[in-house]
Amino acid sequence: MMRDTRLRGLSAEHQDALLFGRRLLEVSTAPEQELNPAWEVLRRRFFAEVQPHFLTEEQELLPALESLGEEALVARVWEDHEALRALVTDEAEPLRIRLEKLGLRLIAHVRFEEAQVFELAQRRLPPEVLERIARRTPPPPTRTVG
Ligand SMILES: [Fe+2]
Ligand SMILES: [Fe+2]
Repeated sequence: MMRDTRLRGLSAEHQDALLFGRRLLEVSTAPEQELNPAWEVLRRRFFAEVQPHFLTEEQELLPALESLGEEALVARVWEDHEALRALVTDEAEPLRIRLEKLGLRLIAHVRFEEAQVFELAQRRLPPEVLERIARRTPPPPTRTVG
């Protein structure tokens, strides 16, 4: 189904998140001396770009889906967000392993949201919720995908 205009801002951020996930996977195989400096840049990007996206979903999208009775779907999104945040902040595992897990899980998470969560959201969410999301994360101007 075509993405509802009011969810296109968040969907555009998903495209960026997929690229970010691929970059994480790329860095996970980088030579040892490049690992830490590359991670510093990516870690800052996570907090600047991915974290605000998660917050919009958690504060607007998830409560509305929950009140429609979609607890299982909502629980899975929360579980993914928490696991992804933990991979960024929990330094117990070696960086290379965390980068790989973070990249794979972020990509899987975005695909799950696009295929299931957003499909359901655009069919069932009340217009006022969709409009609130659109105001918070406005759809981008039409851009060439390349
Ligand atoms: Fe999410
Ligand atoms: Fe998302």
